[in-house]
Amino acid sequence: MINQIEIPESFPGPGAVSGKRVVITGASRGLGTLLVHAFSQAGAAVALVARTERDLKAVTETLPGPSLIFSGDVTDEDFNEAVADELVAEWGGVDTWICNAGISPIVASPLKTNASVWRQVLEVNLTGAFLGARAASRVMGKGGRLIFTGSVLGERPRKGLTAYSASKAGLVGMAKGLALDLAPAGITVNVVAPGWFDSPMAEGWKNNPDLSAAIIDHTAQRRWGAPSDLAGAYLFLASDASAFVTGTVFTVDGGYLLL
Ligand SMILES: NC(=O)c1ccc[n+]([C@@H]2O[C@H](COP(=O)([O-])OP(=O)(O)OC[C@H]3O[C@@H](n4cnc5c(N)ncnc54)[C@H](OP(=O)(O)O)[C@@H]3O)[C@@H](O)[C@H]2O)c1
Repeated sequence: MINQIEIPESFPGPGAVSGKRVVITGASRGLGTLLVHAFSQAGAAVALVARTERDLKAVTETLPGPSLIFSGDVTDEDFNEAVADELVAEWGGVDTWICNAGISPIVASPLKTNASVWRQVLEVNLTGAFLGARAASRVMGKGGRLIFTGSVLGERPRKGLTAYSASKAGLVGMAKGLALDLAPAGITVNVVAPGWFDSPMAEGWKNNPDLSAAIIDHTAQRRWGAPSDLAGAYLFLASDASAFVTGTVFTVDGGYLLL
């Protein structure tokens, strides 16, 4: 029976990630950069992944704690494995791997979405996340954390974003499958599904008054997500406090999915 007395004094608070070794893909701008700063300020060592080395270097210049950068493509199997090996060599392992890199290159009807665009979106958003998760799980010990950045559009699509929605819905199925497969190893796997945040990816929506108003109108809290709204979910899922949370979707959307 659960008894309050059984909770140890040292029970970790949400966000207790100090000293953890955390990989963040898509770290060179937008939500990934936000997460890099949040984890670094919380005392984690952060490994930043994206294709553009120059941008990654610029992000690390203002971090308060240890960091490494890895420039490469998350769709490259060997690159993911090399990042994992390098982190074992440099830091002795990995505690949390956040598969956050993603693309949403076009808004187009299905008839105008050609096969190469379809494959590109699935390749980065879904296959890239799988390859990162696989490399991570090879080197993670008990207590490892895999976190995927999904999207509310994985559950409730908007017109013209079918490939993107399919990729984000796919992440949920993948996270649940991996959560089952990796539970014996003590690794949890979860998805954070953000609503609408003003990043470079979303600026076409934010800067268009009609589209932006439509988003606000569709969000119970009547606003876009602010930078301070997002990182808490990831910090919790990376902390020891979330040890019994796996195979879930943690939605951070101001009530977008309610309307
Ligand atoms: N912004 C939102 O409102 C929102 C809402 C829900 C979900 N999301 C999701 O949140 C994640 C981050 O989005 P964001 O808005 O921050 O987008 P963003 O501003 O466009 O940033 C995308 C990041 O991913 C990296 N990236 C893209 N393709 C890559 C590849 N093949 N290999 C390695 N890195 C790659 C980019 O760097 P390089 O180009 O240098 O590689 C960049 O760092 C995405 O998964 C997105 O789907 C965003």
